[in-house]
Amino acid sequence: MIIKQKGCHDIYGLEAKKWNYVSQVIDAVCERYHYDFIRTPIFEASELFHRSIGEETDVVRKEMYDFKDKGNRDITLRPEGTAGVIRSYIENKMYGDSVQPVKLYYNGTMYRYERPQSGRDRELTQFGVEVLGSDDPMIDAEVISLAVNIYKILGLKGIKVNINSLGDQESRDNYRKVLIDYFTPYVNELCEDCKIRLEKNPLRILDCKIDCQLEIMKNAPIIVDYLNEESKKRFLAVQKYLDLLDIEYEVNPSIVRGLDYYNHTVFEIEADIEDFGSQNVLGGGGRYNHLVSQLGGPETPGIGFAMGIGRLILALEKEEIQLPIEEGIDVFVMYVSDTEKEYAVTLVQELRMNGFKAETEYMNRGLKGQFKQADRLKSKFLILLNDEELKENQIKIKNNQTKEENFIELDYILYYLDEQLSSFEESDCNCGHHHEEGHHCHCQHKDDGEINF
Ligand code: HAM
Repeated sequence: MIIKQKGCHDIYGLEAKKWNYVSQVIDAVCERYHYDFIRTPIFEASELFHRSIGEETDVVRKEMYDFKDKGNRDITLRPEGTAGVIRSYIENKMYGDSVQPVKLYYNGTMYRYERPQSGRDRELTQFGVEVLGSDDPMIDAEVISLAVNIYKILGLKGIKVNINSLGDQESRDNYRKVLIDYFTPYVNELCEDCKIRLEKNPLRILDCKIDCQLEIMKNAPIIVDYLNEESKKRFLAVQKYLDLLDIEYEVNPSIVRGLDYYNHTVFEIEADIEDFGSQNVLGGGGRYNHLVSQLGGPETPGIGFAMGIGRLILALEKEEIQLPIEEGIDVFVMYVSDTEKEYAVTLVQELRMNGFKAETEYMNRGLKGQFKQADRLKSKFLILLNDEELKENQIKIKNNQTKEENFIELDYILYYLDEQLSSFEESDCNCGHHHEEGHHCHCQHKDDGEINF
């Protein structure tokens, strides 16, 4: 038997429904915040990630899925979404678009060669947003609020927002010197990677998964103490907007992020849920005002974040949150004879084309078996085709909940079902929407009425 690769998942059944539901919420929220969907390739030239994520990061040093293609090109399966989006922004000259800033979101698989454990996969799915063209601290707060609101709308309670500022280039340069002075006397205590980082990129030491355990880390200088006036002012402005948006957060100087492209605002949202496990960072992001120019585009400020969908689903499950996933079908069409079967084929097609969730029999089961199948599928109505009745232009339809049966004229069946289903749904439905056309309620409503779409 061939089995799936380590750190990968097959997602199907109820799990797949949860993933789809989460994606629908993401789409709806992004629409409200006016972000446009972007889909970029899963593989890119390796150089893109080397130049953006940074040579000294764990992602580039250890976790990239690199290969040579048949044309001898160096290719990498994307480990994250930002680099590809920025490449696309530059390549498609989106900086010239009439609508600015450019606000984009994506939802797709990423690949990192990590040691798999719960919440840490080799194939992972990220939803992320990137805003390009505005340096307004208000956008930093908007991006954080978008992330927080997605968790809230899904019903997740245990989340904690940590923010920090890495400042501008001047602040970073100051801090770099301070870090080198601090760590140099302890160089022998550092892991082999961090010995190299000390010279090349000392900030990365603070993010090292091995050295983070060391005692010297606790007293390491923190960047907020080395921010220049401009950077401090900016950081305070972000906090002001977060306060205005009623987003709870903590300033946490240990947030430095694992990728090199950040400056100014950085943030992480962690699961504050008992026994959640060590992979508790649900999402993170920050500002990257030099990434576009670094990759060959014009100097353009940017900010974004990404959240792991796998970790989000784990958090929802840990908090035992029931997502309003629609189950069941509208109608199951039953038949026994061949002429009935021919009619069933066309009727099911017509029902589906008219927006009903319809199913029929494919396994040659007798009527008893078909009743059972309809129950398994949680069908609201049953249509029982019968040769004799069809000749009379009649069709038998049964409400599978009340067990009430009716004979309906053939031409009337769509209208009848529509009417019946809308009263069926109205009794169930507390979405508060008035469903005029077609009467069907497709709202994914929640008890607290937080989102209807
Ligand atoms: P990141 O912090 O590397 O940031 O990843 C974002 C989120 O992806 C993490 O918080 C986590 O939920 C999820 N994630 C990362 N690696 C794994 C993994 N191996 N298994 C499961 N989930 C994982 C970025 O990727 C940046 N591109 C975010 C960003 C966008 N910054 C600016 N714009």
